[in-house]
Amino acid sequence: MFRRIDGGDNGTAGALSFDGQAIPFRAGDTVAAALLAAGVADVRDNPVDGSRRAPYCMMGVCFECLVEIDGRQNQQACLVAAKPGMRIRRQAGARLLPEGAL
Ligand code: FES
Repeated sequence: MFRRIDGGDNGTAGALSFDGQAIPFRAGDTVAAALLAAGVADVRDNPVDGSRRAPYCMMGVCFECLVEIDGRQNQQACLVAAKPGMRIRRQAGARLLPEGAL
């Protein structure tokens, strides 16, 4: 669905994982850019109707890219720089509130 503008393989800066799948990324990629370039079609489930959602605006406005990053839920994948070894998980439903938040 998505492809890089330069079309070629300019090497990778490392790999992260998305639900256990290795995802290579380039220097300067955000988590969302790396996932889309790797062909990941959706990253979370809508907590209201269960529909699958994917990064949309890529600039921190729409919140469609929420994922769990290294155990922290509700992270905007389009605003987080990809780093080697990151463990990304699909965010399913509503996030949990931190203990003592209520
Ligand atoms: S893609 Fe819109 S906030 Fe991340």
